[in-house]
Amino acid sequence: MKPAFVFGTRPEIIKLAPVIRAFEKRGIEPLIIHTGQHYDYEMSQVFLEELELHKIDYHLEVGSGTQANQTGLAMIKIEKVLMDEKPDVTLVQGDTNTVLAGALASVKLKIPVAHVEAGLRSFDRTMPEEINRILADHASEVLFAPTEEARKNLEREGIVEGVYVVGNTIVDAVLQNAEVAERKSNILEKLGLKPKGYALLTAHRAENTDSEENLRKLVDIIKSLPIKVIYPVHPRTEKRLKSLGLWEELEREEHVTLTKPLGYLDFLKLQKNAKLVLTDSGGVQEESIILDVPCLTLRYNTERPETVKAGGNVLVGLEKDRVMHYVERLLNDEEFYKKMANAENPFGDGKSGERMVDILLELYEKGELKVKS
Ligand code: UD1
Ligand code: UDP
Repeated sequence: MKPAFVFGTRPEIIKLAPVIRAFEKRGIEPLIIHTGQHYDYEMSQVFLEELELHKIDYHLEVGSGTQANQTGLAMIKIEKVLMDEKPDVTLVQGDTNTVLAGALASVKLKIPVAHVEAGLRSFDRTMPEEINRILADHASEVLFAPTEEARKNLEREGIVEGVYVVGNTIVDAVLQNAEVAERKSNILEKLGLKPKGYALLTAHRAENTDSEENLRKLVDIIKSLPIKVIYPVHPRTEKRLKSLGLWEELEREEHVTLTKPLGYLDFLKLQKNAKLVLTDSGGVQEESIILDVPCLTLRYNTERPETVKAGGNVLVGLEKDRVMHYVERLLNDEEFYKKMANAENPFGDGKSGERMVDILLELYEKGELKVKS
C-alpha cells in the first residue's frame, strides 16, 4: 500500500508524526507532502527535526496568503503531485487550509481521503477552521473520529459509513515525547522558572488577533494576571502586536516573558510544569488535560467540548473578570485546583496511530479503500 500524507502547519506535523511512525513500523514508507503553509524554522523545521521526520518528498512552498489564495495554490500543487505519484490513500489531519486543499485535490482524483481528527465542530461558521473541517469530512472516505462526541457530530450530518472512533493522536504524541522532553529540554533553567511557578499562554486564533478590540482585550488580560506568564508568540500574533505597539507594552511588564514559538520538547516541558494554561489553541487544550494542567480557554466556544465536560477546561473568552475569577480560584483554592488538574483525559490511550494503520491496511486488503460512487 502507498499512503500519502499532506501536512503544512505545526499541529499537523505533531499529530501526524505518530501515524507516519506506525506505518514505518510495518515497513511502509509513506509519501510525505509538505505544503509549506508554515515555513519559519520555529513553525515547521524544528518539529520535523525533533520528531525525526527527515524525509519530505515534496515541499510545495505555498506560504501565506488570503484564504482562497493559500487554499487554491495548495490545491493546484498537491494535485500535480498526486497525479504523478498515484497513492492509494491521502491522509490529512485537522482543519487548516492545507487539509481542505489536500482533501479536495485528492477526492477529485478519486484517491480516497482519510481524515485524522474528523467530526470536530465548534458550531461557529465564522471560523475558517469550521468550514475546513466540515468540507474535509464530507470529502473523506475514512473518518478517524477522536471521540464518541465527534462521531455523533458526523452522524448528525449524515456521515455514518467509514467512521472509526480511535482516540486522538495528540495522546500518542504526548506519550512519545513527554519523557524525552523532560530529559532533553532545559527551558525551565533557561527562562529561570520553577515548576508550577508560572502560567503558560498561547494565542493565535484569527478572531483574537485580527480584531484590534479583541487583541487589546487579550493584552489587558495578560498585563493583569497575578502570576508569571510565559507567552511563546505565534508569528501571526507577533506581527499584529508589533503593528499596534502592543508588543512593547507587554515587554515592559515584569511578570511577562515573550518568546519565539518554541520547539515541541521545550513547549511540552513548559506545559507539563505550568501551574495553569491560558490558550486559544486546539491542541494545547487537549495536551493540558493529558498532562494534568488546568486549562482556561480564551474563546467562547470549543470544538473540544469533551475537555470542558471532563472538568479540565473552562471557556473564559476574553472577559477579564471571568479570566481573573478562574485564575484566582486556581491559585487560592486547592480543592478546585485538584479537581481541574485531575480531570480524566477523554482522548484515548496513545495508540490511535497504530489503530488507524490497522484499519487502513485492512480496508486496503479487502479492496475497500476507494472513493465510493
Ligand atoms: C493556521 C490554521 C489554524 C491553526 C494554525 C496552527 C488555517 C485557516 N488556520 O493558522 O487553524 O490553528 O495554523 O498554528 O489554516 N506566518 C509566519 N510564518 C509562518 C507561518 C505564518 O510569519 O511560518 C504568519 C504570516 O504572516 C501569515 C500568518 O502568520 O499570514 C497566518 O498564517 P496562516 O498559515 O495563514 O494561519 P495561522 O494563523 O498560522
Ligand atoms: N506548540 C509548540 N510550540 C509553541 C506553541 C505550541 O510546540 O510555541 C505545539 C503544542 O504543543 C501543540 C501544537 O503546537 O501540540 C498546537 O498548535 P497550534 O496552537 O499552533 O494550533 P492548533 O492546535 O490551535 O490548531
